[in-house]
Amino acid sequence: MTLAPPRPALDPADLAAATRDVRRAGSLTFLIGDAVLTYRAQDGDVLESDQPDGDAAVRLTPQSWSDLLTQVRTPIGLLLAGELAFERGGFDQLAAWDRTLRLLHNGTPPFDPDRADLKGRDPRAAMTLDDSDEDLREQLQTMGYLLVKGVFSAQEMSLANAEVDRLAAAAAPGDNESWFVDTDEGQQLCRLVYATRRSAVLQFLEQDPRIRRLGTLTDPTLKPAPDRMEGTAVLLKVPGRTRGLSNIPWHQDCGMGGHAIFCPSVSMGIQLTGSSPETGNLLMVPGSHGQTLHHQWDKRADIPVVEVNTEPGDVTVHIQDVMHASPQPTAQGGRRTMYVTHYPGTLWDSIGPGEAYNDLIRNRTAEVGALA
Ligand SMILES: [Fe+2]
Repeated sequence: MTLAPPRPALDPADLAAATRDVRRAGSLTFLIGDAVLTYRAQDGDVLESDQPDGDAAVRLTPQSWSDLLTQVRTPIGLLLAGELAFERGGFDQLAAWDRTLRLLHNGTPPFDPDRADLKGRDPRAAMTLDDSDEDLREQLQTMGYLLVKGVFSAQEMSLANAEVDRLAAAAAPGDNESWFVDTDEGQQLCRLVYATRRSAVLQFLEQDPRIRRLGTLTDPTLKPAPDRMEGTAVLLKVPGRTRGLSNIPWHQDCGMGGHAIFCPSVSMGIQLTGSSPETGNLLMVPGSHGQTLHHQWDKRADIPVVEVNTEPGDVTVHIQDVMHASPQPTAQGGRRTMYVTHYPGTLWDSIGPGEAYNDLIRNRTAEVGALA
């Protein structure tokens, strides 16, 4: 009996790309209870066996294996939860296999910029609420993100900023309502989570019909989750070098897990201050959503990256598994963005109030600093 699940129909080009990923990593053995499954790339295909002879070997429970197979948890999520024991090799080899495994198990293709179809649309297009739903939706579904100019007024943003000042003044490390990073000047606040549960002003923005319209472009059943998945969060970009999760390298928002539970959810970034390279901005890879990201993505020179620069009152929209990054500000920092995410109903079946995939990393500044 093999533990390998039946393979979905695969594009040979995807399989070839996936086997290139694992050329250096070698073969990989999973030890699941008493069962053994080894994957080995050979001649553009992946072979399976029940011999425990992989170059790397990782032991995990049947539940963890099941979560990996169904895209409920990711290798990094399992590692941080302490559920992986390497008998040979290490995490890098499993990470190298991640895209291959997701292709074999789920049919999720590896992203290849050469094959992204942008349908002749401009990945730097700035839209407005005067554009039709159809046009906004087409841009979002093609690129995986959308920039909408002038959604909120200066007055609305200054009211929201005053609320963020108030919540920031009350935040403290370890309070479970905020994230802090280490800097040379000590710990600094970089994110307020569950923000709309303690601010009526921010709650009003979260529930605003303009946000509802943008959050339901791709699916009218999506809705915000203020009491789970860290609710609505406000990002505050800390300047300079930081250790922790203020500057976030290339990632997908389901990187800690939950792809099968909450993708493709849609996240709106209300630009309280606007953003630029100097204050910290968002980088996007157009057309990369719904696919997998190579774990050493940042080492490739040919990434088609779009910088999303904004003014106060603009809104960015991204499908949560589009590849994106939030780099270190080049100067004063200080971007503030309030993220309101709209999720599919499956989220409420699996994630209870106060629960989030990020629970694994919140309040663990040193560990996540090492990862970042
Ligand atoms: Fe993100």
